[in-house]
Amino acid sequence: MTKDEISTKNETSIFIQKNSVAIRIWHWLTFLTIISLFVTVLMASTALNPRKNIAEVQNALKEKGVIVSNEQAWAVSHMYDDKMWDFHKILGFALTFLFLSRIVIEGTQPKKEKVNFRIKNALAAFRQPGQDKKELKHYLLVKGSYFAFYLLLLAMVGTGLVIAFGSDLGISGPVRHSVKEAHGVFQYGFYTFVAAHLIGVVVADLGKAKGVVSGMINGGK
Ligand code: HEM
Ligand code: HEM
Repeated sequence: MTKDEISTKNETSIFIQKNSVAIRIWHWLTFLTIISLFVTVLMASTALNPRKNIAEVQNALKEKGVIVSNEQAWAVSHMYDDKMWDFHKILGFALTFLFLSRIVIEGTQPKKEKVNFRIKNALAAFRQPGQDKKELKHYLLVKGSYFAFYLLLLAMVGTGLVIAFGSDLGISGPVRHSVKEAHGVFQYGFYTFVAAHLIGVVVADLGKAKGVVSGMINGGK
């Protein structure tokens, strides 16, 4: 066995691996961008929801002696929501840039830190006798979840860009509407991944893979 190969026979967990500076910077910038995107969606659908604010606009104007219709109040209430969506769009462009940089980073990663190499290595170890198959299955599931996340990211970026530039590209009407609906559905994949990932890394760090979280900060062993 060469030193690059995965083995469940030694003391340290197979989850304790090196993380390059580029991956660490990418990871924490992506974390910040995605959490900010979640906040824009949360704000736009709660405090800034234009439908819910119609009555508030009408009441505020009524106190100043002005009576306005639902339609007139809507013209004001949706303005702030629109600003939040503009902010969402800008963060979306930042996430698009991060997605593209993840592809570039993969190309520049040392061979043994490439996703492909790690998955192939784990599959090879799986076929060897005497290895802890349960731990290797878990490892493959975790790496598989990252792969699924990258596909979801591609779908989110793709649909987001179509909504943002659809009318310039001649994509409008029902097609843009369906793309927007799909974009809205994909968000649940993000919430699921982020929740599972957070629970996963915390449980791993408290259990067999002590130091896996700090490894995403200091680079690991
Ligand atoms: C964590 C990632 C993201 C989440 C959770 C998310 C979520 C959402 C949700 C729930 C909507 C409302 C959909 C609807 O009204 O049916 C939306 C709209 C939108 N998203 Fe995203 N999105 C994300 C990433 C992106 C990205 C990468 C872009 C790329 C530019 C983007 C661009 C847009 C645009 C342009 C809209 C329409 C805003 C408007 O109504 O004016 N989003 N997003
Ligand atoms: C929006 C939130 C987050 C997203 C989208 C996210 C995404 C990811 C992705 C895609 C990877 C795999 C990177 C690769 O290609 O190798 C990863 C790894 C990792 N993340 Fe996160 N992450 C998030 C938040 C966090 C937080 C808050 C922590 C720490 C508490 C964390 C700790 C880690 C660790 C320790 C790894 C390496 C685990 C391993 O090697 O299997 N992540 N994350």
